[in-house]
Amino acid sequence: MPDALSPLSLRGVTSPNRIAVSPMCQYSCAPDGLPTEWHRVHLGSRAVGGAGIVMTEATAVDPIGRITPSDLGIWSDDHAAALEPITDFVRNQGAVPGIQLAHAGHKASKKRPWEGNVPIQPDNGGWEVLSPSPEAYPPFDGDRPAMRKADGDDIQNVIDAYRDAAERSLAAGFEIAEVHAAHGYLFHEFLSPVTNRRADDYGGSFENRTRLLRDVVTAVREVWPNDQPVFVRISGTDGLNDRESWDIDQSVRLADDLAGLGVDLVDVSSGGIHPEQAISGGPNFQVPLAERVRDGADVAVGAVGGVTEPEQADALVRNGRADLVLVGREFLRDPYFGLRAAGDLEGDSDTVTERWPVQYRRAVPR
Ligand SMILES: Cc1cc2nc3c(=O)[nH]c(=O)nc-3n(C[C@H](O)[C@H](O)[C@H](O)COP(=O)(O)O)c2cc1C
Repeated sequence: MPDALSPLSLRGVTSPNRIAVSPMCQYSCAPDGLPTEWHRVHLGSRAVGGAGIVMTEATAVDPIGRITPSDLGIWSDDHAAALEPITDFVRNQGAVPGIQLAHAGHKASKKRPWEGNVPIQPDNGGWEVLSPSPEAYPPFDGDRPAMRKADGDDIQNVIDAYRDAAERSLAAGFEIAEVHAAHGYLFHEFLSPVTNRRADDYGGSFENRTRLLRDVVTAVREVWPNDQPVFVRISGTDGLNDRESWDIDQSVRLADDLAGLGVDLVDVSSGGIHPEQAISGGPNFQVPLAERVRDGADVAVGAVGGVTEPEQADALVRNGRADLVLVGREFLRDPYFGLRAAGDLEGDSDTVTERWPVQYRRAVPR
């Protein structure tokens, strides 16, 4: 059985260990979606800190898919060129650079969390957001954004934007492309009957609700090299057991379908579709969902949520509950969580020293 420090090979890409930086929005761009020094230092320091995979924050494939005007984007060649030095740096530390490709759907056009997270209206610097079914918008912030029901052209534009974004991500040097289909953003809005009330080919049955995500994954796979992996992040459940909603059984079925389309790893999160969700945090809080997907579908699985200790990450891999462990907030508390894990799990050995950057080796704990 592998452990958290074992390499993970997916197609032709090998992560030196199974600890990944979970995608985390930094809301730190100018309104042009271009990365700043913040991104270079933030992502770069986690690569220095021993993460096997460094995933960017949700990176918008289209300006209307940004959560806030300060989100990172990949909708032009200028974005790809600006991201390239970051992927170079991450790779030079021995880590694998990954990009989370995102479209926020009807949760777009908001103020940043520290500015209140409320919708920004089009006459105030915001924009009209896309929704599968505007009538089903859950009142996340009380205030409704300006919404448009996605029509056939909008859907085709989303598919094309993902294909183009994948091509640009490749040019920027990313080795993993992750499609963000969790947390109540565009694809999750189509997946969940809570937010999808459509009567066309993209609503109603499981097959119809999953169609947009499947079309997008197919488009990404068309341009993403055969020897490089594609991930998809899903919400394993809406956490709304009292009503018709997205649940773990549908997630398992979806994961299997995605594997058939060339997806290599499903990263299992939860929630985000409705404020009445019953999801509580705590150690490993989403791991049972990841485990269900791993048991039921023929695909590698990433577990995320409430992992703060190296031993905990190690147990998840050793016990066959996950193939990869994504760590979010603990990597904000400790950018060197990967190096800490090496020391805690491998003790005082040459292997630990080899995992440390040469520049820092005089500080390896002995
Ligand atoms: C500051 C912050 C920003 C986040 N941004 C994203 C994001 O861009 N994409 C995403 O899929 N999840 C995002 N998340 C969720 C994390 O990736 C992760 O799934 C969640 O924090 C649970 O893991 P943890 O308990 O290790 O923090 C964010 C979380 C935080 C704390």
